[in-house]
Amino acid sequence: MSKYDKLFEPITFKSGVRAENRIVMAPMTHYSSNDDGTISDAELRYYAERAKGPGMVVTACANVTENGKAFTGQPGAHTDEMVESMKKLAQTIQQNGAKAVVQIHHGGRECPAELVPGGDVVSASETDSSDGSVHARALTGEETAEIVKAFGEATRRVIEAGFDGVEIHGANGYLIQQFFSPYTNRREDEWGGSLEKRLAFPLAVVDAVKKAVAEYADRPFLVGYRLSPEEPYEPGITMDDTFALLDALMEKELDYVHISLQHFWSKARRGGEPGRPRMEQIVEHVAGRVPLIGVGSLHTGDEVLKAMETDVPLIALGRELVMEPHWVEKIKAGQEDAIQTALRKDDRERLVIPEPLWKMIISTPGWFPFAE
Ligand SMILES: Cc1cc2nc3c(=O)[nH]c(=O)nc-3n(C[C@H](O)[C@H](O)[C@H](O)COP(=O)(O)O)c2cc1C
Repeated sequence: MSKYDKLFEPITFKSGVRAENRIVMAPMTHYSSNDDGTISDAELRYYAERAKGPGMVVTACANVTENGKAFTGQPGAHTDEMVESMKKLAQTIQQNGAKAVVQIHHGGRECPAELVPGGDVVSASETDSSDGSVHARALTGEETAEIVKAFGEATRRVIEAGFDGVEIHGANGYLIQQFFSPYTNRREDEWGGSLEKRLAFPLAVVDAVKKAVAEYADRPFLVGYRLSPEEPYEPGITMDDTFALLDALMEKELDYVHISLQHFWSKARRGGEPGRPRMEQIVEHVAGRVPLIGVGSLHTGDEVLKAMETDVPLIALGRELVMEPHWVEKIKAGQEDAIQTALRKDDRERLVIPEPLWKMIISTPGWFPFAE
């Protein structure tokens, strides 16, 4: 018996996919795929080093169309040519013991112009990117429907490549969230206007993904959805909007909903009960109707246990698994004191961190903790 036994209970999702424990590797962009979007050897080594412990690994977000690419070295799920190399990634993760899930994504207004054909950056409505460096134009209704279809096509490729599921990236300010947000969606057609119409794009994407699964998967294949529960700006997504999104998602028979937060215990600002942790409110609202994944600045075994006391069944670790690839094995072996929770300047090779990701980490002060 160990106080951590709770972390090691298997879970079987609605689709029939089973994860051996409650720890998920959070989706993390690593800037290390080949320029054409195919999977690189550095990327395979990085995941191989980290897939022995978590029950499930969610990969870096993969763009579903050419104009949805938001990062250099982003893996692609946008053409059939990607499938062969995606197979290697699925196998690498699965052979090490974890379920392998691809996060599917369109960057919308956050795509740098130089990564998008003709610099033609698109969003729900005409708007600047969040840092003001790019001006995006509004998608036409027809183009919007094409992107919905592209999420379905990307799902088919993920199935063909042998993965266990997809996670729809509806979080962190990318295109799906841009359609849900009253800040970036000022449309007056069927894709925007009322709260109900702002839900149209996220729900159409879920339907396209589920349709692809029904059509192409001949084995259990899971569909998860990641969302950010609040936006800092006004008008923007509030906790009440998020409850409405959750209610709509819960009708879609998803395997899980992943709540993207930088800090698990962060408090609500607008809507719901301001000042109370968002995650507690979401757990209460969902009331066990769909499994939730919680995430955000959790590093030690005890921090994860405390988060699970909110009744969140699954916990994702992001930065911690970059800094400590063997986190789960160490907890299991009673070696929690040997877990590394900060980086050292000479850690790159030992921790099998791809060069481009390491460069981003060291050039972004405050993002990762560094030991003296
Ligand atoms: C290097 C890095 C890349 C990330 N890329 C993604 C991504 O592709 N998709 C996504 O949904 N979140 C991404 N995130 C956010 C993480 O999934 C996670 O929500 C966040 O880092 C907070 O969790 P943590 O404190 O455990 O790292 C990224 C975070 C990091 C550190």
